[in-house]
Amino acid sequence: MKGLILSGGSGTRLRPLTYTSAKQLIPVANKPVLFYGIEHLVEAGVTEIGIVVGDTAAEIEAAVDDGSRWGAHITYIRQDAPRGLAHAVKISRSFLGDEPFIMYLGDNILRDGVKDFVDAFDAGGANAQILAATVPEPQRFGVIELDGDRVVRVVEKPADPPSDLALVGVYLFDHHVFEAIETLVPSARGELEITEAIQRLIDDGRTVHWQEVRGWWKDTGHLDDLLEANRVVLRTLERRIDGEVDDATRIDGEVVIEAGTTVTASVIRGPAVIGRNCRLENAYIGPYTSLADGVRVVAAELEHCIVLHEARIEGLEGRINASLIGRQAHIFATGAKPRAHRLMVGDGCRVGIGE
Ligand code: G1P
Repeated sequence: MKGLILSGGSGTRLRPLTYTSAKQLIPVANKPVLFYGIEHLVEAGVTEIGIVVGDTAAEIEAAVDDGSRWGAHITYIRQDAPRGLAHAVKISRSFLGDEPFIMYLGDNILRDGVKDFVDAFDAGGANAQILAATVPEPQRFGVIELDGDRVVRVVEKPADPPSDLALVGVYLFDHHVFEAIETLVPSARGELEITEAIQRLIDDGRTVHWQEVRGWWKDTGHLDDLLEANRVVLRTLERRIDGEVDDATRIDGEVVIEAGTTVTASVIRGPAVIGRNCRLENAYIGPYTSLADGVRVVAAELEHCIVLHEARIEGLEGRINASLIGRQAHIFATGAKPRAHRLMVGDGCRVGIGE
């Protein structure tokens, strides 16, 4: 079986970070989201993997390289514009050949991986196998409708969802999907929808199995989901302190501090991961926080946050909560009168002021 990971898309829901960086490379517990997908495929025995890339191709290729570090072999497939998931499959035809394949959306994370689903597809003789999970807001996803245990309809982001079973971004297909895709026309959002290709398979009488994802699953395309993914992965953390921590610092619970980091007069309450070469001074780092390499937190407090490379947070009175802070962002107290928020905020930013 081959693997196809989709890592194009424009990441509009995570702007402005996605103006300068691929959404699939945003770290969850200090590891890019995309790497979880690669690991899951390899764990399921799928090592021949195509990655569909778009505008952020160079960045993704630099991060993933040839895949040998996972024991995988990666082929990059260029998509000229975000023309839909089914379009991504269509342009990958020569890579995939006639072999069955697993398609994995590069911004999805499944706690329990995909091995069971791959094994079930290998054993089950279906033409396609889809995964679904019960969600509170099905209208944000593709949704499946069942008759007993049979999938009768799949519909993309319906205003009036026929069920609360959302399509998870992991799909298994045999070669019949290519014929189904040939019949598609772009949807209202201008994309060739994989949901419509699945519907076509159903209408043509092909066997489409479904399985429920019971372990935790997230599409990390939204801030809250990304923070939730970070929380879930951090829960599995085991304490390891490789950095330098002074006696005036207190560390509670499962905390990882990488080498080259110094911590003075601070409180760190896990689960939390602090990358390399960070400097924490008179700081409070609360639970469910990930700081990437080179971050500086001085006289400031944060929790439930993801902070990217070399951001600096200094001298704040209030605590920063449930936030995503971009690379080299600088958040600081001005100390000047009038007491006011003074901002230089990039396009498409969201600033929540909790007063
Ligand atoms: C895509 C699919 C949708 C699926 C979701 C899962 O949506 O079109 O059917 O439920 O991924 O992550 P998108 O994230 O492209 O809006």
